[in-house]
Amino acid sequence: MKDLTQASEDTDVSQETGALIDHILKRYHEMHRDDLASPMALADRVERVHADDPDAPSGLACAVRALAQQMEDHMTKEETILFPAMRAGGGPGIAHPIAVMRADLDDHAENIALILPMTSDLTPPDHACGSWRSLYGGLGARFEDLAAHIAQENDVLFPRFGQPA
Ligand SMILES: [Fe+2]
Repeated sequence: MKDLTQASEDTDVSQETGALIDHILKRYHEMHRDDLASPMALADRVERVHADDPDAPSGLACAVRALAQQMEDHMTKEETILFPAMRAGGGPGIAHPIAVMRADLDDHAENIALILPMTSDLTPPDHACGSWRSLYGGLGARFEDLAAHIAQENDVLFPRFGQPA
């Protein structure tokens, strides 16, 4: 898994700010919404089917659901408050919402740090079934996407408004 602080490969700092926001919305916000439903359902199933297995990820479905809800709240705040303000040019009042967004993104990273030990860092045991393996693989891909999203906002978008990390 990528370092959560690592800048994403698709970072293009020359992008005009409106275009960068459009890119974040399409590449990350839309994708997260589409992508998180299936790991949640799969986590429910793996936990239920393997309830007696000490290696099974107990509490994972609940933790992933909490992360997805937190991400949804964060994305909604950006879409309704912060991004429209940025498209309008920003201004001194933008410092506070950016600080709130940075705190949200720190919370996402903390949630992932809580989830990883439940899953032995997304390493299925040798006896894991196909669903179990695909759950961990799917979560790893989603977490990488989220890390890239965090890097685009923290390291590229927010500093354009005078808000260094
Ligand atoms: Fe975002």
